[in-house]
Amino acid sequence: MITTSGLTKVYQSRGREVTALDGVDLHVREGEVFGVIGQSGAGKSSLIRCVNLLERPTSGTVTVDGVDLTALAGRGRRAGRELREARSRIGMVFQHFNLLSSRTVQANVELPLEILGTPSRERSRKALELLDLVGLADKAKAYPGQLSGGQKQRVGIARALAGDPKVLLSDEATSALDPETTRSILQLLRDLNQRLGLTVLLITHEMDVVKTVCDSAALMKRGRITESGTVAELLATPGSELAEELFPLTGAAGGPDRTVVDVTFHGDAATQPVISQLSRTYNIDISILGAAMDTVGGRQVGRMRIELPGRYEDNVVPVGFLREQGLQVEPVDTAGPDLDTEIAELVKEGAK
Ligand SMILES: Nc1ncnc2c1ncn2[C@@H]1O[C@H](COP(=O)(O)OP(=O)(O)OP(=O)(O)O)[C@@H](O)[C@H]1O
Ligand SMILES: [Mg+2]
Repeated sequence: MITTSGLTKVYQSRGREVTALDGVDLHVREGEVFGVIGQSGAGKSSLIRCVNLLERPTSGTVTVDGVDLTALAGRGRRAGRELREARSRIGMVFQHFNLLSSRTVQANVELPLEILGTPSRERSRKALELLDLVGLADKAKAYPGQLSGGQKQRVGIARALAGDPKVLLSDEATSALDPETTRSILQLLRDLNQRLGLTVLLITHEMDVVKTVCDSAALMKRGRITESGTVAELLATPGSELAEELFPLTGAAGGPDRTVVDVTFHGDAATQPVISQLSRTYNIDISILGAAMDTVGGRQVGRMRIELPGRYEDNVVPVGFLREQGLQVEPVDTAGPDLDTEIAELVKEGAK
């Protein structure tokens, strides 16, 4: 639904060049909620602004719903109308709502339709329908100043939907809101995604947002995408930073001669009671040191840190059992330097 290839953006700022996007290849599938996460300055806003051509990319292409927007933009003035039409199929939600304070809620939602030249009766019907959809039917005549932050963002979302977009872009739509309101806005985005089949590309720096609503995610660093995939795919990628942040694990071995492993659950294996099977099959006691599990797309996914008696070499069979069940198992070196071994080494050195 959204594809960028080799997207770069270089800003000229006081005679200096700032590379905000450095060859971004992004692919967002139809009907999914895709989250881009990254630190401040990573290039997230630049990416989303290039996707709807609010910002002209320096090079590379952007295709949305089969239309090459960069080619349209490149054709100069006459392409204006085509580009505007293609853009009306892309809704945008902003961090600070960007509502006009002198206009009523309804008139704010009607604004994009006015620009598109929709007749007044039709505009009004559409705006009221959208306000109902976002749960604000009774606020049509209110002014933005009379609304809470969450309500303002609902107006922002209704306005973004005015042109019947297939794609919704959201740049930090919840970062000005408190946690409770954030949850309700995310829930609304999820609902719209499901009810309208809307594809959502959202930018955030909060892992929780990704965990709550995203089917897929990408990590951005210094203008590049360093990881991307469905949440399950990320989990299945050894060493994935996103998986680690989405499902953080802590917990150290309870003593020497213990084996600590991280077990990643995704796919079918996640529904099987593998830990109790392991315990029964090999008659071993297993301690759960930590777990970070969640339901994504109706499936349990996540990671668990468990401790087995004996050293890693002694646990080849149980570890093999877990892997046979389709789980990913990675040994964790939680013990740090083993003092006894180090002292023994030093003594040996000294004896030479
Ligand atoms: N209009 C501009 N002119 C010059 N430099 C810019 C402009 N917009 C962004 N930049 C620079 O490009 C880089 C990426 O900025 P961008 O706003 O895309 O980051 P971001 O990931 O959205 O950050 P944040 O999380 O703080 O919103 C930064 O170094 C920023 O200073
Ligand atoms: Mg930003």
